[in-house]
Amino acid sequence: MTMTKVKIGIVGTGFIATILAPQIQSSKKARLDAVSSRTLAKAESFVANYPGAIAVEGADHLIARDDVDAVYIATPTSAKEDVASRALTAGKHVLIEKPLHSAASFKRLSALARQKGLLLMDATHFVHHPRTSAMRQRLAALIGAPRSLHTMFYFPFSDRENIRFDPIDEPMGAAGDMAWYSMRAVVEYLAPDALEDIKVFAEWDPHSGAVIRATGVLQFNAGKTATFDVGYTAGAAVMELTVAGTSGILTQDDFVLDWQSGFGFDNPDIQTGFIHRSGLATRNDFAFIETPSERSQHALMIDNFADLIRNGDAAEREIWLSATEKTQVFLDAIWQEIQTQARASPAMTPQVNMRENP
Ligand SMILES: NC(=O)c1ccc[n+]([C@@H]2O[C@H](COP(=O)([O-])OP(=O)(O)OC[C@H]3O[C@@H](n4cnc5c(N)ncnc54)[C@H](OP(=O)(O)O)[C@@H]3O)[C@@H](O)[C@H]2O)c1
Repeated sequence: MTMTKVKIGIVGTGFIATILAPQIQSSKKARLDAVSSRTLAKAESFVANYPGAIAVEGADHLIARDDVDAVYIATPTSAKEDVASRALTAGKHVLIEKPLHSAASFKRLSALARQKGLLLMDATHFVHHPRTSAMRQRLAALIGAPRSLHTMFYFPFSDRENIRFDPIDEPMGAAGDMAWYSMRAVVEYLAPDALEDIKVFAEWDPHSGAVIRATGVLQFNAGKTATFDVGYTAGAAVMELTVAGTSGILTQDDFVLDWQSGFGFDNPDIQTGFIHRSGLATRNDFAFIETPSERSQHALMIDNFADLIRNGDAAEREIWLSATEKTQVFLDAIWQEIQTQARASPAMTPQVNMRENP
């Protein structure tokens, strides 16, 4: 039996749209139906690579199309809630880029999605790799109760023309862009209930006022803690994760984008999986647990999004809403701490303070 493919429209023609469009087009469960840009010519040149896809001017025209089942929102954070709420109101399912503007912003969207019985999923790729569910399933048997989680995620980046250096388009800068993944790892692997204390140190780009690095520690209830260190300034890519439990430790060295086939990397020979150690094991004794996948994690995200639209029930949709909301709540706490630091040390954050005192 052939199932009807979910018809997806993309809003925005930037970097991440060019990564996801081919995955949508090549999915067995979805197809690329339309692409909107604020500039029609940009949409037209974008769809030239995707036979059958229609170019549209403006998100509203894409959302209004009857043939569009779902909208993938690949805009800067500043535009996300507006586009998403219009799409949900019009009865379209939504795949939305991370981060959200705030937890309050996401809660408004999730209320709308619930009311309309629509799927609202954030576009975090790694949770769709079979490694994530494998590690979650085996975590208790391998390391006991998880107590502490550490992530380090740096990508060398210095293009001040990019939205990452624009505090209007991406208000949380590197914290929103990178610590999103740290907090999602907390939600997936540490699964804490409530945040009790937090301390964060940030670094700002003196020219743009954008946050370019952030390091912090979070304390949760029941003795769980998380540390994170993220940014654009390390001069090398690093994506390390460590989960320490009561009887062992699990690590990944590519937790955000697997080196095998996460976009940006394409190394068929590098296996994807995680490392287990316990006791006084040396590097020679560590066990590598491979978690193979025939499809890349971003291709699987599109398939899972389409599957949930076609077959998912309210309870399944709720799981995704809950994970996004928890991630954003912790990210908001990080951002609040960063703003406190900015107010306390004006010399380090000239632009930030100029904006607060016009
Ligand atoms: N999940 C991931 O792995 C991943 C990876 C990279 C980025 N992201 C996230 O995706 C978002 C976009 O990042 P990007 O690197 O793709 O940025 P980008 O290259 O600047 O693309 C964003 C696109 O959105 C449209 N746009 C810009 N300003 C807009 C506005 N004010 N209102 C409506 N549309 C606007 C533009 O397309 P038009 O000119 O055609 O309208 C632009 O090309 C960011 O929030 C980022 O954190 C996620």
